[in-house]
Amino acid sequence: MRVLVIGSGAREHALCWRLQGCDSVEEVLAVPGNPGMAPVARCVPAGPTDATALLRLIRTWRVDLVVVGPEGPLVAGVADRLREHGVAVLGPSAAAAKIEGSKSWAMRLCHRHGIPAPAAERCADPGEVLARARTCALPAVLKADGLMSGKGVVVAQDREEAVAAAAALSAAGPVVFEEFLTGREVSAFALCDGQRALFYGLARDHKRLLDGDRGPMTGGMGAFSPVPDVAAQDLDAIRSILQAAVSAMAAEGRPFVGFLFAGLMLTAGGPKVLEFNCRFGDPEAQSLLCLLAGDVAPQWLRAARGCLEADETVSFATGAAFGVVLAAPGYPQAPRTGQGISGLAPDGQLAGEEALVFHAATTHDGAWHTAGGRVLTVVGRGADVAAARAAAYAAVPAAAFEGAQWRTDMGVIAGARCPQ
Ligand code: GLY
Repeated sequence: MRVLVIGSGAREHALCWRLQGCDSVEEVLAVPGNPGMAPVARCVPAGPTDATALLRLIRTWRVDLVVVGPEGPLVAGVADRLREHGVAVLGPSAAAAKIEGSKSWAMRLCHRHGIPAPAAERCADPGEVLARARTCALPAVLKADGLMSGKGVVVAQDREEAVAAAAALSAAGPVVFEEFLTGREVSAFALCDGQRALFYGLARDHKRLLDGDRGPMTGGMGAFSPVPDVAAQDLDAIRSILQAAVSAMAAEGRPFVGFLFAGLMLTAGGPKVLEFNCRFGDPEAQSLLCLLAGDVAPQWLRAARGCLEADETVSFATGAAFGVVLAAPGYPQAPRTGQGISGLAPDGQLAGEEALVFHAATTHDGAWHTAGGRVLTVVGRGADVAAARAAAYAAVPAAAFEGAQWRTDMGVIAGARCPQ
């Protein structure tokens, strides 16, 4: 098979790395990719939503399967454009990507179909948002209704914070006020063919920039997999939620094909949906894909074609993987770029280290430099989360650059309770 991956971040690097390790895969192409992917993928410059250019590449390279990494091209309808020309695409239609593209729509989907989720209310105009922020229960959860690269959520502890968040978020569009839930968060994944949700594992992400879960929300500062503190009955409920969401989407004429990501809160009353995303998580993918065993490409192709088999299974290697994101100074507000990354070998990896380095925003012109907010994810592997964590943190300093930011407290007590 020849597989084309759309995207240019560390998640897409991990997807390419995983596909390249499949016996059935002859070559991986990445559009546009990044220089760190070069050892595992042929990077081809083209716009991730430019369907004409993508179709040309697909025909030229005789691509068998397209895997779409980020949400932007999916919400923009790139999967629809390619499917219209008979291409097998692992990624939802624009209609199905609405599950991520509109937070309020996703909440209403849950409420319509009895999927456990917090109460939610959408306020359309800035005046309404501000008025709601002045009266809502505290703590308050405010979410931008549209796509915000993981940075559109504020948990306001007091009135002042709620009003400030209302002013900031409403500048970008409608805002959703959600019931505040307590518990531990977990990210759950399923490979979906439009009807079936094949459970694809759990990971836990750390979204705040700073240790102690302080500082601004980010796209994610690190993640580990598996998540040992999820009880068996919660795991059953999570599988049911993923299947219920896929069945609901099919029933509403928006069959979901691709990786479905449920962000969940494990409450005292069981798991509840905080959000759905229409693609793999970043940085969750960088850890979870390291554990996925076997030749997964034919299974991904079956899902893309809408025909997962009834007895389809997925297997994971034993042990755990733990990813630490290295972010640029100034991230997330105003990342500074251009710092040299002297520890990386010419192949973009750490010489003599078992830890893997997935690139998100780097350039290479003989030397490696930073080129964006989240720059690298360093992934350690080990017999359990603690060992994987130790391996990742041991490797991080070698990949660091001037002003690099990373969290030092992620997964501290992963077996019991992680800081949230
Ligand atoms: N890690 C959260 C996300 O991918 O949206």
